[in-house]
Amino acid sequence: MASTLLSLASATPSASLCFHEINKGKLNLGCINKEKTNPFIKAKSFGRVSMVVASNVSHFEGITMAPPDPILGVSEAFKADDHELKLNLGVGAYRTEELQPYVLDVVKKADKLLLEKGENLEYLPIEGLAAFNKVTAELLFGADNPVIKQQRVATVQGLSGTGSLRLAAALIERYFPGAKVLISSPTWGNHKNIFNDARVPWSEYRYYDPKTVGLDFEGMIADIKAAPEGSFILLHGCAHNPTGIDPTPEQWGVIADVIQEKNHIPFFDIAYQGFASGSLDTDAASVRMFVARGMEVIAAQSYSKNLGLYAERIGAINVVCSSPEAAARVKSQLKRIARPMYSNPPVHGARIVANIVGDSALFKEWNAEMEMMAGRIKNVRHKLFDSLSSKDKSGKDWSFVLKQIGMFSFTGLNKAQCDNMTNKWHVYMTKDGRISLAGLSLAKCEYLADAIIDSYHNVS
Ligand code: LMR
Repeated sequence: MASTLLSLASATPSASLCFHEINKGKLNLGCINKEKTNPFIKAKSFGRVSMVVASNVSHFEGITMAPPDPILGVSEAFKADDHELKLNLGVGAYRTEELQPYVLDVVKKADKLLLEKGENLEYLPIEGLAAFNKVTAELLFGADNPVIKQQRVATVQGLSGTGSLRLAAALIERYFPGAKVLISSPTWGNHKNIFNDARVPWSEYRYYDPKTVGLDFEGMIADIKAAPEGSFILLHGCAHNPTGIDPTPEQWGVIADVIQEKNHIPFFDIAYQGFASGSLDTDAASVRMFVARGMEVIAAQSYSKNLGLYAERIGAINVVCSSPEAAARVKSQLKRIARPMYSNPPVHGARIVANIVGDSALFKEWNAEMEMMAGRIKNVRHKLFDSLSSKDKSGKDWSFVLKQIGMFSFTGLNKAQCDNMTNKWHVYMTKDGRISLAGLSLAKCEYLADAIIDSYHNVS
């Protein structure tokens, strides 16, 4: 009850008198009674006396504590641990062999050039930096792709992958009421939040087969076939997060067949272009194949991983339409959605991307650095497999580690086993069994293998 403190404020000397004294003879506890119905009443006026009701009950009392984020919350827990062997394999962020964050040399160079140019900090247009939007679509679809030449792509700069997905989700909610988004099971921890918050209904299609620690291709196809016609099928362009398991090129072909047959709309989340294989073109092959079939496609991009621009929040949403007129209309609506959400996007990351891609020397350097990062992750993957295979005498087949690609490995460890990894071994990871190999060094592979083997065999 909010009756712990009543104070009076007034321009009159009687201000210091208590409520009852002021209102002698016509004692009116109206205010207090009203408090009973509304504990959040702040102020009441009684003629020239204004009464302020201060309360120790917060206006925000009804708000419960949110759970920690399943991915970013892991980093917070890691920071709070002071064990010397602790290892953060939670968030997908690239680290050097010394396990330090890495700023690409090419980004430092581009930054220096930007400073020398002395660009202004005026607002960007709602759709973002034109030079960025041009190069980001070209990187994804290929500069010679007819859809670009025919101006059939609506590209809007987004706040990295998440912000770009959120724009597309809002577009779906507004223009495809009731349409479902199909999401892989499992998927990146934030996908469901994005569609929930955008009020877009979703359901899951089978993806991961725990028996083989591989792709449940039949299940995937069956579920996509069974979805109501015209559903949006969310696909990971490359390096599926969290499993690291991608369809083969042939399987991609079958997925495209089914999506086409059912008149579904492919919706790509491509957050690792160039970072999975080391080649921008190879990693964009799935998206390009769907576009080459003449399909309308949505694709959300991110430059967090491949350019290490995590904190710049730079990415884009692209909607490939069947006509330039449709693309223009879609773009206008994406801008309409963005304006009341965040007005217009930040400029710095967009300039960095545009300058690197627009300069052939810097572009070459970026490709080399991307290859180096992808190569380091591949080396760590091999070393981890070697360590697991040589240390584990049980005969368990750990070769699935080598079959996965990208920055993650999906270990198949259950929640209790993941808890053991953290509580006993100080290895921080998401509770779905995912480890970020980008946060692992060659030197730590043996320690990690010990932790995995112990958790796998000794915890049920
Ligand atoms: C991840 O999956 O770890 C990254 O994409 C970071 C994030 O935002 O969740």
